[in-house]
Amino acid sequence: MIISLRDISYEDLKNKLNKDDKIVLWSCNTCIKFCGIGGYDNMVLLENMLRADGYNIIGKELISIACMYSLAEQHKKSIDKKNMFQEATAIICLTCEDGFETAESVFNDKKVIKVVKTIGVGNFTMDRGPILTAPFEWTGLEQNNQGYSFPELAEKLHLYPTFFDRKEAAEDNTDENISLTINNKKCTARIGMTIMQACEANSIKVPHLCYEADLTPDANCRLCLCKVKGEKELVPSCATPVRENMEIITQDDELEHARKILLELALASHEHNCLTCSKGNPCIAGNCELQSLVRDYDIKETRFQQNKEKLPVDTSSPVLVYDPNKCVSCGRCVRACKEVACQNNLSFVNRGSKTCVAAGANKLFNQSACVTCLACVFACPTGAITEKISHFEGDDWLETNVYQS
Ligand code: SF4
Ligand code: SF4
Ligand code: SF4
Ligand code: FES
Repeated sequence: MIISLRDISYEDLKNKLNKDDKIVLWSCNTCIKFCGIGGYDNMVLLENMLRADGYNIIGKELISIACMYSLAEQHKKSIDKKNMFQEATAIICLTCEDGFETAESVFNDKKVIKVVKTIGVGNFTMDRGPILTAPFEWTGLEQNNQGYSFPELAEKLHLYPTFFDRKEAAEDNTDENISLTINNKKCTARIGMTIMQACEANSIKVPHLCYEADLTPDANCRLCLCKVKGEKELVPSCATPVRENMEIITQDDELEHARKILLELALASHEHNCLTCSKGNPCIAGNCELQSLVRDYDIKETRFQQNKEKLPVDTSSPVLVYDPNKCVSCGRCVRACKEVACQNNLSFVNRGSKTCVAAGANKLFNQSACVTCLACVFACPTGAITEKISHFEGDDWLETNVYQS
């Protein structure tokens, strides 16, 4: 994993911008995300900070691997985004220096702003976060198998150990706030938020599988259904916008009962072998969200008949393993491949209980147009698409707590 630290302050960043700039945030979803600088959440955080300070953010773009020139070009030219990129005058890169150089070539007519210094190669550890083990020569640092931590590096190299100051982001633009109640508690949310986002902003947990913050909502798993006063039907929290004085209930006996049934159905459609499943490892792609939900809802067995039919596991890709038996058809990988990787290599095949995802309209991954960017791996909430490196590691992973690439 390439290790980068932030090297400019928020004030320095603002000094590089003009109030009449049309700004696009350009963020990588790979190494830099695990260094706490890239990814979707940091992009939203910086967007809020700059908006609150009167800057004109016209868009944000998440790229699976920002240093890949062909991918960056595809994002720039994509039908949905090309007007935004034409209009932009400034691009802020939440990428490593390679990603920055790629963005400079792709957007050679615009002001492209770098916010990091890339300092070498390292790992992501569960207890210490990212660490640097093989520093670049310019740092003057020795190779270190134990790894330099970010606070240590920030001090030695005069860099910043964290993303831009989160406290400043908390000061929201109150003009855009609305009032509503969630579970009979008075809350505020921003215009344009969905119920799910409003709940997250108010620290209210709503169960979900098909929702991921950086992807367009698809509302297919139905786990996030909630009640809204005045609506006859339950509404999906992930795809329903909030409005002034909305009265929302996300949790009661009826909703919880329905969620339990949905989870049991997901388990019944699925080969349940969590003890040996690679998604059981707290790897870089995170734990199994299905397993966590099953634990939260104290489900010990499913009342539905289990589908025992085994589909072949695809190990043809050099970087990932696809096990369709563990697919719950949430569609996150399909959307990630389209929206974050700009590839559109994944789609659903088959009908009914046999529905699952396939690469290249039903080819092996290595025979499809997969660019091995791992966006689908990061998006998958179960053990259906996992990174090859995490396979067959078992509990050793827990002992070493290290991700290495
Ligand atoms: S995908 Fe999740 S629920 Fe399914 S076997 Fe793996 S860990 Fe268990
Ligand atoms: S299928 Fe290939 S190109 Fe698409 S997101 Fe997955 S790794 Fe990237
Ligand atoms: S492979 Fe994973 S992300 Fe894709 S639809 Fe299946 S469970 Fe969802
Ligand atoms: S998370 Fe809303 S329907 Fe799946």
